[in-house]
Amino acid sequence: MQDQTLHSLLKEMTLDEKVAQLMQLATPFFEGSNEQGEITGPMAEMGVTKDTVRNCGSVLGASGAKEVRAIQEAHLKSNRLGIPLLIMADIVHGFKTIFPVPLAIGCSWDLKLAERSAEIAAYEASVSGVHVTFAPMVDLVRDPRWGRVMESTGEDPYLNSEFARAFVRGFQGKDLTSDTNRVAACVKHFAAYGAAEGGRDYNTVDMSERQLREMYLPAYKAALDEGCEMVMTAFNTVEGIPASGNKRLMRELLRTEWGFDGILISDWGAVKELIPHGVAADEREAAAKAFAAGVDIEMMTVCYVNHLKELIVNNEVSEELLDEAVLRILALKKKLGLFENPHRGTDEHGEHEVIMSEPHRAVAKKLAAKSCVLLKNNNVLPLQSGKKVALIGPFAQSGDILGPWSWKGSREVAVQLYDGLKGRMTSDKLSVAKGCGVETGTHEELQEALDIAAHADVLVLALGEKSDMSGEAGSRSDIRLPEVQRELIAAIRRIGKPIVTVLFNGRPLDLRDVAEQSDAIIEAWFPGTEGGHAVADLLLGDVNPSGKLTMSFPHSVGQVPVYYNCFNTGRPQGAPDAQVRYVSQYLDVPNEALYPFGFGLSYTTFHFGEPVLSNPVLKAGESIKISVLVTNTGERQGEETVQLYVRDMAGDVVRPLKELKAFEKAVLAPGETKKIIFSIKEDQLRYYHSDLTFTSDPGTFTVFVGPDSVNVKEATFELVK
Ligand code: BGC
Repeated sequence: MQDQTLHSLLKEMTLDEKVAQLMQLATPFFEGSNEQGEITGPMAEMGVTKDTVRNCGSVLGASGAKEVRAIQEAHLKSNRLGIPLLIMADIVHGFKTIFPVPLAIGCSWDLKLAERSAEIAAYEASVSGVHVTFAPMVDLVRDPRWGRVMESTGEDPYLNSEFARAFVRGFQGKDLTSDTNRVAACVKHFAAYGAAEGGRDYNTVDMSERQLREMYLPAYKAALDEGCEMVMTAFNTVEGIPASGNKRLMRELLRTEWGFDGILISDWGAVKELIPHGVAADEREAAAKAFAAGVDIEMMTVCYVNHLKELIVNNEVSEELLDEAVLRILALKKKLGLFENPHRGTDEHGEHEVIMSEPHRAVAKKLAAKSCVLLKNNNVLPLQSGKKVALIGPFAQSGDILGPWSWKGSREVAVQLYDGLKGRMTSDKLSVAKGCGVETGTHEELQEALDIAAHADVLVLALGEKSDMSGEAGSRSDIRLPEVQRELIAAIRRIGKPIVTVLFNGRPLDLRDVAEQSDAIIEAWFPGTEGGHAVADLLLGDVNPSGKLTMSFPHSVGQVPVYYNCFNTGRPQGAPDAQVRYVSQYLDVPNEALYPFGFGLSYTTFHFGEPVLSNPVLKAGESIKISVLVTNTGERQGEETVQLYVRDMAGDVVRPLKELKAFEKAVLAPGETKKIIFSIKEDQLRYYHSDLTFTSDPGTFTVFVGPDSVNVKEATFELVK
């Protein structure tokens, strides 16, 4: 169908039909759905009529080839013009084969595997009937109290942008029209949802435009530059205006400045939420404001279907804008080939072969192992063969390792840690006990754990958070492990045997106590379907840990936000002339993170040489090379992530102490040395000045190279323009 045909189709549509294209309803509203009910109760209260459903443009949360086919078929019969439905769902880190949560994927620093995980997610989802995924979520995060940090790839704008691109490439492939096993991506949540005050979900966001542009916007922009088809608005306010009614963000920035011509969808119910936000008196005003601001599709509330027509008839909203929005929706349907083949990649037989296939699980296992971060190791890991291991804790035998956004994932088939180890150790060498639940425990559970600990050589504690302790609406003000688990470690510690703690959780935690009491710590996050196999591989030394944190772990919640790319202040701690008291610091905790951005250990050790610059002067239009020799000084093969940071020593506005500019992963055999060469150009040094021009400052820059954001070696160069 040509654009001309879309225009002709639009001409045939009544006002009601056009407005209903902007409506997104959940699966149970549709004929053919397994859960379909009469439109009664809460559904009727929403104000949805049969006509709305008949004319509706898209479905939220449908999947399963048989069901989706039935819904589409029934819809095409009842829709006057035969306009197919778009099927959208949250395929965030896997469809049924669940990969680690995105924050964990971030810690792999492996863009190729991240892309592959999205490709697999798209494949499984597409045979199951899904056309669009509400991913990637690219919100920059600095506050671990916010439960949704697990959906993000972390605190760095450059790394987040690289992952945003990788995920979009994986979901969408090169050509959505011909490749029916890909899905359209919808980047979210526009904008700055990750900056909710106090880490409380849905809370206010207010920041300077400079900070917004420098830190928060790049990853959304990167996703769009990669061709991402859709954008979802955020729940929060930005400069006093809810993002879902924010003209400045949507019409001015996204549409005019960035030239985005894809679909903008509200987050769930966010159009109607303009009322409790206090910027709309009623649903009519909410519809008028959200639509004028640029939201095309309203998700799960009915302000548009109930009021847009009247607003247009009264000339309060222009029909031209409505036509533009409808055309965008029709255009995506066309691009996905739905007019010719409304069932697209949907494939009931394929579903059985594709979903959870061995190759898919193999990628999930590899990515899970690469996403785990070794935070501490006093030579207890890898576990020595022959030692008796007691596996203790609420996550020893738990399938709750998929994370809160694993919609179609099944805990029953997730590989538990005990099962991962059991396949690899003889039964006389492995015992298991729960010790306690995640949040509560009994004396008997503790006693059983102490008993098996008494007969073991090394104690592996599997601790963490339940998946609903993070994710949406999963904010916590105390980010320590729940008390009962802290008591469990303390009791086990008294036995005096080596303790390895494996953590399953969705956010950076306050690990002070855990760090003190453990001889080794593996942060396994929510590692997904293959979690137990992946962690067993690491514990037993078949895989050497290589993950590096992409979000700082604070000493305590009182330090939050703590992030590596912060400013120096006028009174930095540790400066040569610093006073004892009048410096920027806490009296009771350090300023720095307990485990910083970029940090992660290996079973081998790496030595970094001094960075060598090809030229001490960088001229605009040219580049300089920064090389460093990295040597594996240990006894095992290992993978190091070599990180390059830059600091602009005197800017127009204050500049971060370090900014990640590049990284490279290197696999090194024992004793092997590799020369890693980075290249820096002037355009990588640009940022938003006080007048919002995007440019660089001539003068001195420091470059830092190292295995993390703290442990670095440095050199300087001059930028001459
Ligand atoms: C979440 C989105 C999600 C949407 C649809 C919302 O509550 O904030 O991230 O895509 O629901 O499920």
